[in-house]
Amino acid sequence: MRNEVKIGFVGFGNMARAMAKGLLEMDVCQGNQIFACAGHYDQLQKNAELLGVQAVRTAAEVVEKSDYVILAVKPNMIEPVVEPIVDLLQKKVVISVAAGFDFERYEKILKTGTHHISTVPNTPISVGEGIMVCEDRHSLSPMELEDFVRIFSNVALVEMVKPEQLSIAGTLSGCSPAFTAMYLEALADAGVKHGLTRDAAYRMAAKMICGTGKLYLENENHPGVMKDAVCSPGGTTIRGVASLEKDGFRGAVIGAIDAIEG
Ligand SMILES: NC(=O)c1ccc[n+]([C@@H]2O[C@H](COP(=O)([O-])OP(=O)(O)OC[C@H]3O[C@@H](n4cnc5c(N)ncnc54)[C@H](OP(=O)(O)O)[C@@H]3O)[C@@H](O)[C@H]2O)c1
Repeated sequence: MRNEVKIGFVGFGNMARAMAKGLLEMDVCQGNQIFACAGHYDQLQKNAELLGVQAVRTAAEVVEKSDYVILAVKPNMIEPVVEPIVDLLQKKVVISVAAGFDFERYEKILKTGTHHISTVPNTPISVGEGIMVCEDRHSLSPMELEDFVRIFSNVALVEMVKPEQLSIAGTLSGCSPAFTAMYLEALADAGVKHGLTRDAAYRMAAKMICGTGKLYLENENHPGVMKDAVCSPGGTTIRGVASLEKDGFRGAVIGAIDAIEG
């Protein structure tokens, strides 16, 4: 499924490249439909060439060439980067991925009437399995929102949340890949301890995490029901469950989110 839409990235760092890679890999658009600018043009050209997208010299050029403009610079660079292109942005759909920049904040930076939405994507978007948390307070028209959801649903679960939920939703989807990678590593360590090769242990643990998530999304069974389904009475799995409970597994996970959210 290809769209004729033109997508521009102002800033082409880790997050922008992850999004561009996902859009290309999932065949949502082609490299000649994606434009990007960055702080350092030489490095940008190399990054753009690797993905087959179009490097341009200025943010103004990105905006002029694009229908959707994704603001993907570090949060401290949003205001200085937006200021010179604020008039041009008024005619486009502006998508922010910058942490901490919600609708309210953009209303003070962008010109009145600019169509914009604040989002928090996560890095699995690069393989078409991301999450794009979106603030449900935005100024896109119904048709623009429909198109936005249609395009990005190809690479991510597009989850609309209330403004006050943006932070926790971004933490849950954006920080948990680190926790999940730790879980993956720990499972593989255990596998290696008991004789599996490292490669096989990582592959199996990773597929188990993907598969368990997919099973939930397809059936929406309560996670407790999913757990019970693999715990036979007096069996081995329930011993592992009891051991995790003893070691405070759930409390540790909730504590990790608390540590971020405060
Ligand atoms: N990484 C994540 O997991 C993640 C998750 C959710 C949201 N985000 C958000 O995504 C945004 C980008 O984060 P990141 O991790 O991708 O950062 P990053 O890798 O440091 O990328 C920042 C990009 O901005 C460019 N830039 C700097 N000054 C510029 C200017 N004046 N004009 C145009 N481009 C300029 C940089 O170019 P040079 O390198 O050439 O200077 C670079 O391409 C942040 O606002 C962050 O909150 C990131």
